[in-house]
Amino acid sequence: MTKKITFLGIETSCDETAASVIRENDKGTADILSNIVSSQISEHKKFGGVVPEIAARAHIESIEYIIKAALEESKVSLNEIDGIAATAGPGLIVCLTVGLNIGKSIAAFSNKPFVAVNHLEGHALSPGLENNIKFPYLLLLISGGHSQFLIVKDVNKYEQLGTTIDDALGEAFDKTAKMLNLGYPGGPSVEKASKLGDKNFFSLPEPIINKAGCNLSFAGLKTAVLRESKKIIGNDKLKFNLAASFQYTINKILYKKTKIAVEMFKKKINTSNINLVVAGGVAANISIRENLKKLSGELGFKTVYPNLKLCGDNAAMIAWAGIKRFKKNLLNNIDIEAKSRWPLDENAPYMKGPGLKL
Ligand SMILES: Nc1ncnc2c1ncn2[C@@H]1O[C@H](COP(=O)(O)OP(=O)(O)OP(=O)(O)O)[C@@H](O)[C@H]1O
Ligand SMILES: [Mg+2]
Repeated sequence: MTKKITFLGIETSCDETAASVIRENDKGTADILSNIVSSQISEHKKFGGVVPEIAARAHIESIEYIIKAALEESKVSLNEIDGIAATAGPGLIVCLTVGLNIGKSIAAFSNKPFVAVNHLEGHALSPGLENNIKFPYLLLLISGGHSQFLIVKDVNKYEQLGTTIDDALGEAFDKTAKMLNLGYPGGPSVEKASKLGDKNFFSLPEPIINKAGCNLSFAGLKTAVLRESKKIIGNDKLKFNLAASFQYTINKILYKKTKIAVEMFKKKINTSNINLVVAGGVAANISIRENLKKLSGELGFKTVYPNLKLCGDNAAMIAWAGIKRFKKNLLNNIDIEAKSRWPLDENAPYMKGPGLKL
């Protein structure tokens, strides 16, 4: 019997301070022995978004306690841990350095292997915590800072098929919530408000829907929501209609672009067994899940979603990416530094800024 690897994961790339202990199991997935996530929502709520300095201070104040709690809850001592994984990017440097430095320190004093994890690889591999999913698969990564279609060929092997050319989808949800005064964090509040509105009431733009392959764009949609929101101040019914119309438009965009991404995936990977994994914070949105499930029924592929609590930022996914990299001997020295930008596919074209040709 091969030894089952146990890892401590640490995550502080944005506004969640998180630590987790996980262990491989016989099913090819992981036992999550602890998964502590301390959200800073209340601290950022009054500003309507994440304030980097406040986030970094909150990480510093709680990280030690969170790691201790994760170890205690797991009933695993540091001695029994095979390695430490911490998020090294992409994200806010002031935040990343808190978790990264403490992870490196624990690895150094306990003489354990250290893995610096790309937060996006954490999201990309997160369904593997609970599903024994085989490579390659198609990934739709929709989070607060990213919106991309990628082929996940293996651990550390990614090919980007498309990306947003402006805002990330989570950002579009957050900004819509702010414009409609629905509260923070934006995604869940827009989803809730949408249930009370008429999705067909407003006709909103679907930017680059008929061009640029499976690349995405949400800036024009956001501007349209801003324009309409100014005309409906004080009218809750219309506010809910606008939230519902925004979410419906997002679903139409994702439907069309996912269809294109599946075709691209099929051309590149010769398989009839296609798995679409949807990961990242926005993957918690039930209407998006149902929308893509409907598409999967039509096109004959399978959708895989991480458990709702594993969609947003957490350290179990960082520990899992750590184990996967450790097993491929992809270890890091403790002089590794935090990176604010760290694409999964280093060869993908940069799709933002003036002069962009679609
Ligand atoms: N139910 C939901 N519907 C839509 N969006 C949601 C929902 N729940 C969370 N989100 C959005 O998910 C985002 C947070 O996801 P996540 O924590 O993965 O992002 P991040 O870590 O800040 O960014 P990244 O992973 O790109 O670095 C926020 O923008 C939030 O509004
Ligand atoms: Mg994230």
